[in-house]
Amino acid sequence: MITKNEKVQRVLGGSFFERTWLWMISKMQFLLLGAHKDKTDVTLLKQIRKERVSMLTAYESYTILSTARSVKDLVGDMAEVGVFKGASAKILCGLKGDKQLFLFDTFAGLPANAKEDGNVHTEHRYTCSLESVQQYLDDYDNVHFFKGLFPDSANTDEAHEILADREYSFVHFDVDLYEGTKACLEYYYPRMVSGGIMLSHDYSLLRGVKQAFDEFVSEIPEGLIEFPSTQCMIVKL
Ligand SMILES: C[S@@+](CC[C@H](N)C(=O)[O-])C[C@H]1O[C@@H](n2cnc3c(N)ncnc32)[C@H](O)[C@@H]1O
Repeated sequence: MITKNEKVQRVLGGSFFERTWLWMISKMQFLLLGAHKDKTDVTLLKQIRKERVSMLTAYESYTILSTARSVKDLVGDMAEVGVFKGASAKILCGLKGDKQLFLFDTFAGLPANAKEDGNVHTEHRYTCSLESVQQYLDDYDNVHFFKGLFPDSANTDEAHEILADREYSFVHFDVDLYEGTKACLEYYYPRMVSGGIMLSHDYSLLRGVKQAFDEFVSEIPEGLIEFPSTQCMIVKL
């Protein structure tokens, strides 16, 4: 049975209406954040929202900022799977210091739904070219781009050369789909340092993402932390 949220996602996902709705919510959330959070942080997130279309609300972008910052002094690099136009990646760029940041996307939009996704998504939704994101993040060093379907894009000879033996302190998943989320969890969980964070968008919004997390968490000692937004995270023991 398709839920009300999924009906909305199927019809409006990625559309002008979804963007307008997110813009309105974010406007309100930025007002509230501005009343009690650090002004520099709020200004930065507002600026990114102006620069790039993003599917994140203001609170969700704040959660990326604050969780990634909380582990910035742990050893280990950072990664994101699901970059779109680079809004969430830009938050990570500003925090990463000397760490490497690995960014994965098809740069051709969403792949096909699996049966677990309930046919919510349209293939190629959220397309942005690799060149456009590279240009947007051009000011930052040690940012590496991997074009293609994850996890295949992490398993080429070229990728192995740079990714072999890496450990991660923070990874952000925003792929909207069951197969991609499952692949992210399977790939990164064994590579996370103790205390490292795996944060995902859309856990409580998209059934494929939720199912991938619920199945994975049932097999590991760590619990799932759900946020009031659509996000969730796992902190590696
Ligand atoms: C909602 S968008 C990401 C939004 C982005 N994090 C932001 O800040 O606005 C989802 C992205 O996931 C990518 N994607 C989905 N499944 C993927 C996979 N298996 N491998 C690589 N990219 C994938 C799509 O191409 C799309 O750019």
